Order: sequence, then structure tokens, then C-alpha cells
Amino acid sequence: MESNQPPHLYAPYKSTIFRSPTKPLIIVAENLKDLRLPAYGESAIGKFDNDLTKNARVNGEPIGERIKVFGKVMDENERPLPHVLVEIWQANSAGRYIHKAEIHDAPLDPNFLGAGRMLTDSAGNYSFYTIKPGAYPWGNHHNAWRPNHIHFSVIGHQFEHRLVTQMYFPGDPLFEFDPIFNSVPKHAQHLMIAKFSMDYTDPEFALAYEFNIVLNGKLRTIFEN
Ligand SMILES: [Fe+2]
Repeated sequence: MESNQPPHLYAPYKSTIFRSPTKPLIIVAENLKDLRLPAYGESAIGKFDNDLTKNARVNGEPIGERIKVFGKVMDENERPLPHVLVEIWQANSAGRYIHKAEIHDAPLDPNFLGAGRMLTDSAGNYSFYTIKPGAYPWGNHHNAWRPNHIHFSVIGHQFEHRLVTQMYFPGDPLFEFDPIFNSVPKHAQHLMIAKFSMDYTDPEFALAYEFNIVLNGKLRTIFEN
């Protein structure tokens, strides 16, 4: 079966030239894959940590299109994984991050931090309310823009259950121009794109997007190297 994962080195995505490994990778021994990862206590998760429309409110609502992003975290046999830590971070609706290295000339939103986290429930489900992120330029090449995306980090209970990835939105016109998106083999690109869900859309409140995550095995969600 052809791999779904991107190569470590993909020249059009320029940073990979500098950070891809120059020596052969060390393969983790089979008996070490079940090693347990450090546990994160549930008490560390705050009540509004999975609601980015509320977790940084200063004096009002964040600006932009409110959305719900939800899904299931699973292992290679599609068994749901309860109590794994799902963290997200993203630009605001204007395509601007709160980060000291950020230089994009777009406004910050005083009511939007752009970061959230939660533990999956007993059936492996997670759900965030947030604001749909804007596209932003990133200087990789002339007129380079990132498609709208949300960064994900998942930390499960085992060494193998660690994933960093990006979720995209269906029908984005920037897909064909983005080297990060295109570093992933064509046949696997759909695994990074959330599905719009009318069934889970909250009437009068927020459109819903479903993004399921597989942490290991052949169907593993795309890992951002
Ligand atoms: Fe980003």
C-alpha cells in the first residue's frame, strides 16, 4: 500500500530543505511502541478551553464566522480513544496569529487567542467552538498564501499515539498553490480536509465541520514532519 505520509524533504516547501533529516531514521523497536506517554491530568483543562469564542473574551465576542469543529480520535483499528489530549491553534478571521514572530499586516482580535484544548470523551469524541481562520501570506515564494487551516496536536497514552497535523476546509481555492498541502501525496490529501456537516450544524449558531483523526497504522492521519 502506497504511503499517505508526505516525504521529509519536499523542495517547493522550502523549510523542509533545512530541517529534513540528513541521516537514515532510527526505527523504533516494536516492543517500545506500547510505551506509555506522560499522563495529563483532567484538572488541567479549564471549562472554556474548548470554546475559542469564549476562552479569551476581554470585552466582547471575537469577530468572524463562528464554527464548530468536531470528530473522533481512533487507533489503527478504528477503535475510539478516550481521554487523549487534543490541542488546536490557529490564526484569527483576518489571518493573524498572536505570536511575537508574526509579521503579517492584519489586525489582532482582542477577544481571540486562537488556542484551545480538551480531552476526548469516553467514546473518543472531541468538539471545539471557534472562529473560521483566515488565509495568510507566508513568504515561501512569491505570492505564497496558506489555505485556511487549524493546527492540531494530539497526545494519547502510548508512544505511537502522538500526532501533529493541520485540518483544512473543503473547496479552498488555495489548495493547488500551497506546497505544504501538496507535499502530501495526492491520493491522501482528502484525509486533511474536514467534511461540512449539516447534521451537526447548530441552528442559528454555527456551521459544523467533522475531522476524524487516526493516530497510528496505515490509515494514520497525515503527520506534519
Ligand atoms: Fe498556520
